[in-house]
Amino acid sequence: MRAAAANKNKPAPSTSSTSANPDSAPEPSTSTAKPAPAPVFKGSGLGAGPRHFVDPANQPWVEKYRPKNLEEVSAQDHTVQVLKKTLGSSNLPHMLFYGPPGTGKTSTILALCKQMYGPDLYRSRVLELNASDERGISVVRDKIKNFAKTTVTTNHDPNFNAPAFKIIILDEADSMTQDAQSALRRIMETYSKITRFCLICNYVTRIIEPITSRCSKFRFKPLDTTSTEARLRDICLAEKVDCPDDALAALIRTSDGDLRRAITYLQSASRLATATGEPISPVGVQEIGGVVPDGVMNELGRALGPAGAAGASAFDTVRAAVEKVSREGYSAVQVLSQLHDLVILDPLVPARAKASIALDLGLADKALTDGADEELQLLNCCARIERAVRAA
Ligand SMILES: Nc1ncnc2c1ncn2[C@@H]1O[C@H](COP(=O)(O)OP(=O)(O)OP(=O)(O)O)[C@@H](O)[C@H]1O
Ligand SMILES: [Mg+2]
Repeated sequence: MRAAAANKNKPAPSTSSTSANPDSAPEPSTSTAKPAPAPVFKGSGLGAGPRHFVDPANQPWVEKYRPKNLEEVSAQDHTVQVLKKTLGSSNLPHMLFYGPPGTGKTSTILALCKQMYGPDLYRSRVLELNASDERGISVVRDKIKNFAKTTVTTNHDPNFNAPAFKIIILDEADSMTQDAQSALRRIMETYSKITRFCLICNYVTRIIEPITSRCSKFRFKPLDTTSTEARLRDICLAEKVDCPDDALAALIRTSDGDLRRAITYLQSASRLATATGEPISPVGVQEIGGVVPDGVMNELGRALGPAGAAGASAFDTVRAAVEKVSREGYSAVQVLSQLHDLVILDPLVPARAKASIALDLGLADKALTDGADEELQLLNCCARIERAVRAA
């Protein structure tokens, strides 16, 4: 409200933004003949349309169990603590959330905004843009700038102590072009009184320095085993799913600190269990996660070890093993990732060999990302591993 008052002597960009009913469609600006900006994100921001309600029973579990407030965000204690403090003081800096996928970045900012503004004000005060929206420099100049400079709508809900600024969430900001990021710098400063930015990304190095220096950084870490287990158990309880301990352990191992992945696999495994009438098993979980079973990996590992070459040409043994794995249809990237764990954790392989193998694995991974042939890359990499182990 204070910001709205402060802006009264400026030419108001759009009178509709101060309208008492934030849900009403934006009226055309009174000062110019330009049409109102088009909705930029379904469900929020300027001119958002009506909301669609989906029966929670039909929602994927990741959405159904998305944290609704900061209390429900697990594991990110430091971030949640700081945000809770700022929630009380209604003073928020520009923020940059970064960290690996499925660790709660998007959920945290959405929960914070909901807690801060309440359901009604949320739609007029929060603009969320993600990688599915066009976010080139023209969008920054038009849509983002337009939203940033609109005056703050009045809070009519006494249950929420909404601060006098709007929030622009730029999800997956690392996919924004450098030019678009540069264009943001000035906007962030000019309208900082009435608009705060929250940028979210996986790779913080892809955000330009001038932007990172304007933001408070929050690092989201991969979820630890205890937090993942607690969250999965809660979901099992709510969904009345019987998940044995060993299957839960397999879920945690397979998901690698990515809670979204763990929940998705749990839902698939429980559907499979319902269909087959058998309980959830660790092998079933590994199958769903596309993990190569330990037996197959150990067989490949034996072919690459010193004993693998006994009696036959070393290369032929490796080729036969690689062919077998490829015919099973396992993804080469997954095999490489598991080979990495197998070799690096093997105490019998000397450090020097491990170093050269890690290099080979990295090169093969890069080649696969660039679209190289899966079987050839796997064969090349395995042959090199075998040679490195033999030479050691
Ligand atoms: N820390 C967490 N606490 C509770 N639930 C979480 C947490 N992290 C992830 N989840 C679950 O995973 C889902 C995805 O989380 P979210 O969208 O916040 O991930 P993200 O960090 O934004 O990932 P990405 O980088 O891929 O966008 C949520 O709907 C929620 O169910
Ligand atoms: Mg996200």
